[in-house]
Amino acid sequence: MSVSILSPSEIQAKLQERSYSAQKSYLAMYSTWWGGIVKDPSLMMVPIDDHLVHRGDGVFEAIKVVDGSAFLLQEHLERLQSSAAQLGIVLPMSLSEIKDVIAKTTIATGARNAILRLYISRGPGGFTTNPYDSIASQLYLVVTSYAPIAEEKYQNGVRVGRSKVAPKEPWFATIKSCNYLPNVMMKKESVDRKIDFTIGIDPQGFLTEGSTENIVLVDKNKNLLRPKLRQILKGTTMMRSFELAGALLDEGLLSSIQEKDISEKDLLEAREVMMIGTTLDVLPVTEYEGTKIGEGKQGEVSARLLKLLREDIKKGPKSTPLYV
Ligand SMILES: Cc1ncc(COP(=O)(O)O)c(C=O)c1O
Repeated sequence: MSVSILSPSEIQAKLQERSYSAQKSYLAMYSTWWGGIVKDPSLMMVPIDDHLVHRGDGVFEAIKVVDGSAFLLQEHLERLQSSAAQLGIVLPMSLSEIKDVIAKTTIATGARNAILRLYISRGPGGFTTNPYDSIASQLYLVVTSYAPIAEEKYQNGVRVGRSKVAPKEPWFATIKSCNYLPNVMMKKESVDRKIDFTIGIDPQGFLTEGSTENIVLVDKNKNLLRPKLRQILKGTTMMRSFELAGALLDEGLLSSIQEKDISEKDLLEAREVMMIGTTLDVLPVTEYEGTKIGEGKQGEVSARLLKLLREDIKKGPKSTPLYV
């Protein structure tokens, strides 16, 4: 094997050769490191000595853009700020400057529907665990195309199993850090088991969350329940859906909306169970560890919540137009 020392122009040529299909969905990237936008996926890179790369030292958000507007933008940015603050990372720019970067990078793609992947890193500076070696935090934003979930999943529901991965400690679970190995292993086990999701169980036997989504249910008394925010990420979609669910109280579809410690028994006895998150909206769960949940198809509350959420995404007030 020949191991040559490459010139910058040889590297540039190699980057062009190294294309792969996932890159087709990378529409544009903004980086504070370069202070601008690139549209060529082969140039969407971060410095290897950024502690984001070698220690997972950073925080992130995934934000959905629908018909040119970013849904729950403020909520995502506030969570980003709070995650960063908990790790002692100072954002490299203000939230209003980040919004400006988001709008300009999205406009550069021309995409009306997309997922914004926003990373705040500790920053470049050596290869130790010492965060004080980093020279300055960086922002990397990648606008990717959005592949919606098949409508069939909303009708027939998804299959969920119990995760063997130990849930994160409460402090860790409430921060959206780039240290996502437990989440990665949860996704891996669901793919390996050929089911849609696995969910965590905390040491007290209560449900936590999926790899990148929250779980909620409607119990037999029509109470809409979500886990307490002790050992899970405070999902922006779950919180907004619970606000919108107020309308279902008036319709008599729900008798109350609460947070509660939820056991596996509660899950198995539920009328309806749903997975909720930015890329999913509200997906009904129709099977847990091989046992049918509720009617085994999308329930009334799932259907209404999905509709309310999709109307909310379309009409606001939580959608921020980017093409202005
Ligand atoms: C661990 C985890 N839980 C829940 C969620 C759902 O949060 P949101 O609705 O803000 O996307 C996410 C989102 O990526 C997540 O990573």
